[in-house]
Amino acid sequence: MLQSALYTGFLWALLPSLFFLSGSEAAPTDNLPSAASFYVSHVPDLQQDSSRPLHVYAGHLPSDPDAASKPATEVTAHLYFVLVKNRRLADKERILFWFNGGPGCSSFDGLMMEVGPWRVDGKGGLRVAEGGWEEYTTMVYIDQPPGTGFSYTSTDKYLHELPDASRYFITFLRNFYQVFPEYKTMDTYLGGESYAGQYIPYFADAILNANLGVPFRGAAIGNGWIDARRQYPSFLEYAVKHGIVTENSDDWKRGKDITDRCMEDIEKEAGSIEPIHTDLCESVMNVVIEHHTKQINGTKTCMNMYDVRLNDLHPACGMNWPPDVRDINTYLGRQDVVRAFHAQDASTAWDECRPAIHRAFSTRRSNSSITILPSVLEKVPMMVFAGDQDLICNYVGLENCSNPILDCQQYRRWNLGNLPKSHLCQDLQRFPHGWIRRAPYKSRHDLTVHGCEL
Ligand SMILES: *[C@@H]1O[C@H](CO)[C@@H](O)[C@H](O)[C@H]1NC(C)=O
Ligand SMILES: *[C@@H]1O[C@H](CO)[C@@H](O)[C@H](O)[C@H]1NC(C)=O
Ligand SMILES: *[C@@H]1O[C@H](CO)[C@@H](O)[C@H](O)[C@H]1NC(C)=O
Repeated sequence: MLQSALYTGFLWALLPSLFFLSGSEAAPTDNLPSAASFYVSHVPDLQQDSSRPLHVYAGHLPSDPDAASKPATEVTAHLYFVLVKNRRLADKERILFWFNGGPGCSSFDGLMMEVGPWRVDGKGGLRVAEGGWEEYTTMVYIDQPPGTGFSYTSTDKYLHELPDASRYFITFLRNFYQVFPEYKTMDTYLGGESYAGQYIPYFADAILNANLGVPFRGAAIGNGWIDARRQYPSFLEYAVKHGIVTENSDDWKRGKDITDRCMEDIEKEAGSIEPIHTDLCESVMNVVIEHHTKQINGTKTCMNMYDVRLNDLHPACGMNWPPDVRDINTYLGRQDVVRAFHAQDASTAWDECRPAIHRAFSTRRSNSSITILPSVLEKVPMMVFAGDQDLICNYVGLENCSNPILDCQQYRRWNLGNLPKSHLCQDLQRFPHGWIRRAPYKSRHDLTVHGCEL
């Protein structure tokens, strides 16, 4: 079961806690609702700090670039967002659009477990969390591609490729600025983690080419999946480095053999497409994880691939983690919560990661984002940072910057662990091409200390 789960669904694994259960420039849509209609006047069961209350806006925006040519009766794509205004002002106002991965996983992950202002309290409600990125930056958490989280579209219209996702995001943005024109002149960033390592370079490129007139300043990717050619071999390299698998052991040889054959496959494709994922390489993860399968008190457990310090039940191996998702599901399933967040138009109940979106978004004809990065980096800085306990999108692969199309010398490396808290945006501005080395003893969920402040 582990075998098949990883074979068919590895990119699920790029985001935690799954329970198995171009071109055309659309004009902004007419008759969009007013900004006031998106205001979330009350976040249910959140005890706010009255001295620094949160200002939240949320809802759906039409995001189908081809909507004008479709019959009015057709259900078109509507992406969903939650905007959390900055609590304080540093030197200037900033806005950051945030994406979680999967593909098919909701950005409520970022909002409620990673960089947002609240967490579940274990008693059915929420508690305010310290260190959220909204301290100094207006954050917009987006559910995309259409069908992810609370976003919706016709079920036979799910997207398949990254350039398509970019077009929908740009259409979303045009409508977003129509509703909230004050953000159009604000310094703008993109951020996200895991499979957002694919979205973000594509979206950055799309913004730079879309003549939006927005001051786009940079992007940050945490534990991202950017470069399959470097990151697949890193499963085994990381495992050796961290004492998970011993070099030249039988398991290592098995893993090495699969990695070598997979690299040959990638080599064969070179020239036509730079792949984002290949099934063969994904099976290397099995070798590493199976190695650590053991019986604890009669229960089969394995290593948590998102945080190698932890164990999880076999065969989930990390997909049951973090445990918050169960409470988030319950919370977002409440009708009063759905209404408060203006999500009533969503066609189904919220789901952290939606298998149908994941399967549809196969990206078999999209080049990996590593091929898009160089042209983006000529115009804006991008920062890649990595918690060092994550096995999948691990720092070894991200640091192995030997891609021939990138001049790796241009990346500055530094150790996030030595920085005082919250220097992410500052460093983006200070360094022309940020490449953060690693954050010691962090998994991908401990991102709040790197808040975007100046
Ligand atoms: C992918 O990249 C290759 C090499 O740069 C290029 O020849 C090809 O046209 C690209 N394919 C797509 C679909 O963008
Ligand atoms: C196994 O069970 C014993 C007795 O219930 C308990 O003390 C111990 O902590 C358990 N070990 C693990 C690793 O859960
Ligand atoms: C980095 O990538 C190269 C191939 O480009 C590979 O030979 C090497 O083993 C990789 N790993 C490290 C840790 O350098």
